[in-house]
Amino acid sequence: MGDLDPRAFPLRGRRVVLGVGGGIAAYKAAELARLLMGAGAEVRAVMTPAAREFLTPLTLQTLTGHPVGTDLFDLGQESEIGHIRLAEQADLVIVAPATADLLARMASGMANDLLTTLLLVTRAPVLLAPAMNVHMWSHELVQENVRRLVGLGRIHLVGPDDGWLACRMTGPGRLAEPADILEAAGRLLVPHDLAGRSVLVTAGPTHEALDPARYLANRSSGKMGYALARAAAARGARVTLVTGPTALAAPLGVAVVRVTTALELEAAVSSRAAEQDLVVMAAAVADFRAARAATKKLKKATLGATPTITLAENPDVLAGLGRARAERGARLPVLVGFAAETGRVTDEARRKLVAKGCDLIVGNDVSRRDAGFATDTNRVTIVGPGKKLARVPLATKDEVAHRILDAAAALVSAARK
Ligand code: CTP
Repeated sequence: MGDLDPRAFPLRGRRVVLGVGGGIAAYKAAELARLLMGAGAEVRAVMTPAAREFLTPLTLQTLTGHPVGTDLFDLGQESEIGHIRLAEQADLVIVAPATADLLARMASGMANDLLTTLLLVTRAPVLLAPAMNVHMWSHELVQENVRRLVGLGRIHLVGPDDGWLACRMTGPGRLAEPADILEAAGRLLVPHDLAGRSVLVTAGPTHEALDPARYLANRSSGKMGYALARAAAARGARVTLVTGPTALAAPLGVAVVRVTTALELEAAVSSRAAEQDLVVMAAAVADFRAARAATKKLKKATLGATPTITLAENPDVLAGLGRARAERGARLPVLVGFAAETGRVTDEARRKLVAKGCDLIVGNDVSRRDAGFATDTNRVTIVGPGKKLARVPLATKDEVAHRILDAAAALVSAARK
């Protein structure tokens, strides 16, 4: 696993049913429950009778904060948990560990315990994490059952891993690492609505040199743009990230183009814009540069008491893309800009939407401590066609990135029609 960054698949507010089968790896379900909760998912655990031989319901109840479903015919549990509703409302069902017995019962459509019943009711995607003895896993009947289940299209597999097994053998059959199951779960919950599309994202500040030692810059950390690049890749896009200087690691699965100045950023973006379906300008491009950058360090003694720097205006890259698209009479690329404001965010976002000729403007208040520059969270207002508004309350930048892409991907598919 891991060709993309797991942060690109946020799980906040998603309803996950964690089904636990009866195998020694059941103890790892506790760790998985913890990771799912940590990622913000709402987790309900269901255990088979055999699973309870390996792990107590109390463990999962304590971790998830909800009663654990164990018995199909227990009226008390039924009224408390409402299994059918649980199955209907789930966004995803994970079965970990999926034992040979569970796979066989699932493949033959049986509903002889709570978990298999729930699996027949749910319409949500199902993620199976098998774990068993190496010979059991390679048995033709087990393989046949797995093929049958995966062939249905809605049932997916993570693992099993190759390694040391509790039966003191080595080989395939080990439960996938809980972190890998978490990532696979996230992938299933993120829409693939940018599959096959080309997306260019800009991020970070630009540095405008005054002399070889000094530059003009701003507080942008690049976090929002990098989150957008990650999220677009998670949704299946071919992503190019044009980034100004940042301290961030290059996102996985994304082509990175590094620039320093606004002029370099403009060249990198405009040469690639025509082949994009979507351009998201999250970079905080400097509006001005030094009219003439000194080639040698400016010395205090020669500058006089209060030196004056003469500035020249940088091109507005986003407005340029808007004009170029209008001249071509094209609908693509869809153009998304940001409005970094310290007040009147919505009004300014609306004004910039028109002034720059783009399709969406994401307004954020950079004067707040929990939003805007250099934070891990953001709270934005998205202004769209007809100046319609959508507010995204405080969330991680990865989550905000997905909400922005929800709106942008819809515009891309409308423009493609
Ligand atoms: N932008 C751009 N080129 C510039 C300046 C900004 O492409 N020279 C883009 C930004 O990437 C962002 C949007 O325009 O998507 C708005 O940037 P912002 O700094 O909020 O606005 P400005 O146009 O610079 O206006 P002002 O500074 O007056 O608010």
